[in-house]
Amino acid sequence: MSETLASTPYGTLPTAASLPQRKPVSLPRLHEMRERGEKITMLTAYDATFAAAADSAGVETLLIGDSLGMVCQGLSSTVGVTLDTMCYHTESVARGLRRVQGTAWIVADLPFGSYQESKEQAIRSASALMHAGAHMIKLEGGGWTTETVAFLVERGIPVCGHLGLTPQTVHALGGYRVQGRSESDAQRLRRDALALQDAGADMLVLEMVPAALAAELTPELPRCHTIGIGSGKGTAGQVLVMHDMLGMGLGKTPKFVRNFMAGNDSVRDAMAAYVASVKDGSFPDDRLHAW
Ligand code: KIV
Repeated sequence: MSETLASTPYGTLPTAASLPQRKPVSLPRLHEMRERGEKITMLTAYDATFAAAADSAGVETLLIGDSLGMVCQGLSSTVGVTLDTMCYHTESVARGLRRVQGTAWIVADLPFGSYQESKEQAIRSASALMHAGAHMIKLEGGGWTTETVAFLVERGIPVCGHLGLTPQTVHALGGYRVQGRSESDAQRLRRDALALQDAGADMLVLEMVPAALAAELTPELPRCHTIGIGSGKGTAGQVLVMHDMLGMGLGKTPKFVRNFMAGNDSVRDAMAAYVASVKDGSFPDDRLHAW
């Protein structure tokens, strides 16, 4: 029997005929946005319905982050998230977008233990995420990852790096704290970022990096769009964990988060407010949300 969307009993998504026709987000489109100085927006998404809501609110890039370990699975860190779980959520997001003819660019995290062993392991894991519907994979860290990034990019897999606070190595870092504060740490971060760009990474998440450092680095990375979280307004784009920006965090709200549900009546409106605030530069406010 063929699927009719209107008769779906739970969380009905709009019918294709009622949807606006939009151009899919692609790497060239992200580069065009960057060139004209338009900020790139990213939110995490883990399921079909929220992915569709974020897409219709105008969020250009959706990250199936391994933060799902915390917000969906109740884990205390991202370290326990498996590749199978990442593929399951990536498939859910990709299906949700397909059903609403969504246009967002889908980025999926390679989880801890799925790429550290070898470049061959990395390409097997990245392929699994691409088969699940990702357009780009994200991996954490600098230094040794450069070779892996070049290996994946040469084989046609777009890559997003992740520097600064890298939650998969939280135990080695000694906790969730701002990174790149000392001169030597800042220099290492800059070296790692430039090496990732040279290796072909098109995007780079900078997490909890001092705002001044992130703002300095961004123009040095014209081919690799910096996406900040807790790193100030000087990056090419911003990302937040969806549950945090909807005011649904269970613990202490991180300093870099704004609750966009405040003053909005729906999740979609809150997401649209996030997009508008990133685009007009009113979020983040470096005095409140950065170091
Ligand atoms: O896993 C995740 O959600 C992330 C973001 C916080 C950038 O990596």
